Amino acid sequence: MKKTYDAIIIGGGVIGGSILYELTKRGLRVLLLEQGRLVRGASSAAAGMIAAQTEFDADGPLFRLALQSRSIFQEKVEELQQFSKLNVGYVKSGIIKVATQAEEITRLHRMNQAHQSVGERSSWLSTVQLRSMEPNVNINAIVSALLHERDAQIIAPNWSHAYLEASRALGATILENIDIIQLSLNKNQIRGVETSVGIFSSENVILATGVNKPNDRICKQLQFDWPVFPVKGEAFSVRSADSIINHSIVASNVYLVPKSDGRIIVGATMQPNQYDFEVDTQSINTLLQRAVQLVPSIQAYEIESTWAGHRPTTPDHLPLLGELKSINGMFIANGFFRNGILMSPIAGELMAALVSKTAWNSNFDLKPFDPHRFTNQVAKGTLIP
Ligand code: GLY
Repeated sequence: MKKTYDAIIIGGGVIGGSILYELTKRGLRVLLLEQGRLVRGASSAAAGMIAAQTEFDADGPLFRLALQSRSIFQEKVEELQQFSKLNVGYVKSGIIKVATQAEEITRLHRMNQAHQSVGERSSWLSTVQLRSMEPNVNINAIVSALLHERDAQIIAPNWSHAYLEASRALGATILENIDIIQLSLNKNQIRGVETSVGIFSSENVILATGVNKPNDRICKQLQFDWPVFPVKGEAFSVRSADSIINHSIVASNVYLVPKSDGRIIVGATMQPNQYDFEVDTQSINTLLQRAVQLVPSIQAYEIESTWAGHRPTTPDHLPLLGELKSINGMFIANGFFRNGILMSPIAGELMAALVSKTAWNSNFDLKPFDPHRFTNQVAKGTLIP
């Protein structure tokens, strides 16, 4: 096995996979190390909405990045399906955002204005239009509906595996179940990674471990206080032979996502700082009741599966993207919160540009994603997730 690489990525989820793919595509020799099994974290739990408009109700740096990411999704899907031979279930039918309470209408209008101010399209749906698009929706439960035509969805685990398989097909090396012991350093230059199966050398190492904090020894080496914490989400799926909904439908406290493989995913709870994987019957019951309120016929189907995942986030809910000041060649890409799948194409391109020191969209200000922006708060003990 060749042990020297142009870059080493730690973390085998969708973000690690996207960076692996983009670097490999650019001709670099890249190794990805995963401490457990591939695609077992947030990437496998995600409902897979590509909700660049639906998830953002105001303009801001992450919204702009999300729009860019959505705009390159189609081309990535084509590339990845070709190289990986996997079907990723990409569906571009839009997402319907609904208000179920009168007081949510103002928020929906503000969201629409924010999107229109940057040239994004959305359409208000009349009752007649909504009924004809979604005959099984309970019109009485909905006070307003906005269709984000350009939003889409994908099967999240397949998408994450497609990144990894496409990278492998292009020559990348991927190793699972590897213990990362410590970093190899020469003063403030990264030299590689010491693992349970030996030392791998590289002048570039990228941490994309989601909610999995590196061990204490590595945190000390990084001189970087870890600001990432989980927001646990529980979800369930039903399988329906007939398509009871045609679009993803998102309300403020529940969403239903009809997948191209016949499942409907219903999600998801939001529980900050919960590290366990337990699925509470009360949570599923609450989600089910909300889903039934919107689409009554869903109660005719059996629950196929329930699960919990951990969205990696930071105190301001913006990601950490860039090189660490303390160690040359040490990068981090983490904290994509509710949007890891949506952001994966742009995260891969951006990190590949930073690591390979090639040009990227220079108009884009990366300061809001500075990995060190919480350092003072951590030192003062005021970092309260
Ligand atoms: N993106 C949906 C969620 O995080 O639940």
